[in-house]
Amino acid sequence: MAEAPCASGATAQLAASPHDAVRWKITCMYRQLERVPSMLERLTSLGQGQLSAEVQEWVVGALMRDPYHASHVIDVDYHRRLCKALFAAAERSDDGVTDALADEFQKRQCAVQQSRSGWCQKVWTYGVTGPALGHLGTTASDGASGCIALGLSHDMLAGSTGCHEWEAGFWLAEYVLSNLAAFAGKHCVELGCGAGVVGVALARVGAASVLCTDGSPEAVANCDANLRLNGVGAGDNVRTALLRWEDDPAGGPTPDCILGADLLYDPRAVAPLLHAVTWLLQNTASHGGKGERRAPAAALIATVERNPDTLALFEREAERHAFLQARRVAVPRVQAVSWHEFEALEAARPRLLLHELALRAPGGQS
Ligand SMILES: C[S@@+](CC[C@H](N)C(=O)[O-])C[C@H]1O[C@@H](n2cnc3c(N)ncnc32)[C@H](O)[C@@H]1O
Repeated sequence: MAEAPCASGATAQLAASPHDAVRWKITCMYRQLERVPSMLERLTSLGQGQLSAEVQEWVVGALMRDPYHASHVIDVDYHRRLCKALFAAAERSDDGVTDALADEFQKRQCAVQQSRSGWCQKVWTYGVTGPALGHLGTTASDGASGCIALGLSHDMLAGSTGCHEWEAGFWLAEYVLSNLAAFAGKHCVELGCGAGVVGVALARVGAASVLCTDGSPEAVANCDANLRLNGVGAGDNVRTALLRWEDDPAGGPTPDCILGADLLYDPRAVAPLLHAVTWLLQNTASHGGKGERRAPAAALIATVERNPDTLALFEREAERHAFLQARRVAVPRVQAVSWHEFEALEAARPRLLLHELALRAPGGQS
């Protein structure tokens, strides 16, 4: 597997002092393209109410010109707006505008969008507690952290729903990274993979094979690009494929583990989703293993509860399904790996649900 990317130098370290903690929070916010007014508020509080020369030097040096950030945190318009707001605040400060910020401001005003218009790249950082988990893209010696970068669409209507960040997907990635033993060496298929955060996590924990599938061609192409962005290549046995749940692909995959996140948002998708899970499980039961001893396959579906009616429909349909048995699994609230400063996920945590689906025992009894 290619080395997992992560920010270089001090920005990758876990915070050691309260002052560092604030800088670390701002670093994570910057990587996630946090709103410009929030960034400005945090940065001026770091300079005791002003955008001091020291803070300006830090923003330019440690954030904007950090080599990892320069290649992974990409949105020309965001940087233009951020620089403009910083420049205005610096002009009002006692120190005035530093040369570094003035240069950066000028450069950003003239920058041409390199990536596709309407798309951006954001980076999320996770911390690892407990025993050293060096293969998770960790770099810091005192603790550990890793990053996942994703190309995403700004516009909800462009690039399909799969080209955005969804909290359940990030939670499932956290779960995968925290439970190495459950996924290392396993053959995994993800349904509705979207931008690919779970696929990257599966590659990092050493899944034997990962097939990231989605019904949207845009999502599949974007997921493919995101895998490469995170150093995951074909040599890692990680592939993408177009797969609509309504279809019945002949000779399909035989996974040990089926994963899905944030798939229960449209009542019309419930029956096709159960159909896809069933044929994948049945395919593994009848063709999987080829001589290897494999545990029965199961599907894990992570959901942020949004629409109680759709969730109830899913549970009802799964409950009375001829071939499936489903159960809610307790969602671990504290895990060995967790995302840093991801406010949307923190807000969603109380509404996270995890369902496990498996084939009914022969005879139809659960
Ligand atoms: C809300 S997004 C979640 C994406 C990803 N799992 C995540 O958590 O970031 C739902 C995904 O399911 C896919 N999807 C919806 N209906 C589908 C279907 N019938 N067949 C295949 N994929 C479908 C969408 O294209 C989209 O990528």
